Amino acid sequence: MKAANLDIVVIMDGPDTVDAATDTSFGLMVAARERGHDVWHCTANAISLSDGSVRAQAHRAIIDEASSWAPLTLGEPADLDLGAVGAVLVRPDPPFDLAYLHLTLLLDHLIGQTPVINAPRGLRDANEKLYALRFPEITPPTIVTADADHLHAFAQTQGGAVIKPIEGHGGRGVILLRPDDPNGASIVDTMTARGQTPVVAQRFLPGVRDGDKRILLLDGEPLGAILRRPTDADFRANICVGGSVEAVEVDEADRRVIAAIAPSLKADGLVFVGIDVIDGYLSEVNVTSPTGLRQLSQLAGTRPDLDVIEWIERAIRR
Ligand SMILES: Nc1ncnc2c1ncn2[C@@H]1O[C@H](COP(=O)(O)OP(=O)(O)O)[C@@H](O)[C@H]1O
Ligand SMILES: [Mg+2]
Repeated sequence: MKAANLDIVVIMDGPDTVDAATDTSFGLMVAARERGHDVWHCTANAISLSDGSVRAQAHRAIIDEASSWAPLTLGEPADLDLGAVGAVLVRPDPPFDLAYLHLTLLLDHLIGQTPVINAPRGLRDANEKLYALRFPEITPPTIVTADADHLHAFAQTQGGAVIKPIEGHGGRGVILLRPDDPNGASIVDTMTARGQTPVVAQRFLPGVRDGDKRILLLDGEPLGAILRRPTDADFRANICVGGSVEAVEVDEADRRVIAAIAPSLKADGLVFVGIDVIDGYLSEVNVTSPTGLRQLSQLAGTRPDLDVIEWIERAIRR
């Protein structure tokens, strides 16, 4: 059954950033159009609040899946009252900076009017690296500190630690610290800005060789998973640093991880989420603009994108 035609507004980066083969926001737009909806594009800086109404200077999304150079272009402009549209998808890429925080605070004004996915409060609360640490039974041993001695001792006792910036993404700044690394002191000094900035230090999981699984979740249920394998030259498996992608099953260990976090995700309005699982351990909960949907569709031959849009249609009916 097709839902009545709705306005679906996607807040995301500019159309020039879209690669049709890999862009999840684009994938959601494709699915929304396929379901007969009117799809609108707008950037974060085009959201405003006027006499209590949240507005978007949006453009109609013109979608051409076959185009390799401009799969998404902007059509007619419109000044939309977001309180009157069907749903708003929040998809700008990190960083989570002050502008992003302010975006979520503006979108809070839509509570009770329009479904916003993911919920602005959830986006504020769920730091992608730190949220996972609420579930120590499914995360690797991890500390968060700016203290150099503490970080070195941790790398020593764990036999190697992965150090990550709290606000990082795409593998940027993620470093493997070996206990005997002659650069160790300098790495810690640099990453903590001389002891001023806490970083995440996590036990190095050698199983990362066999891949970092991205599991996409819809309202706490798995849509499917893809496996990102690192190249021989890097332990980081991120696609943007050269990791390869293949189809993979959601297994028992993954289901344990999902069962542990699903109630919390639901309570926080984190409807469309990508979790990273290495060797059965949760390493990250991506909530701002999780990726992998296009690759999942292609590799699994399923339509998780339509599942997301159909979920939204049901949420609107509720
Ligand atoms: N604890 C770990 N053990 C081994 N490798 C890790 C660990 N944590 C992260 N990595 C590797 O680093 C990559 C990036 O780390 P991740 O925590 O996902 O941060 P980002 O947000 O930058 O993707 C992962 O894809 C994985 O290959
Ligand atoms: Mg990651």
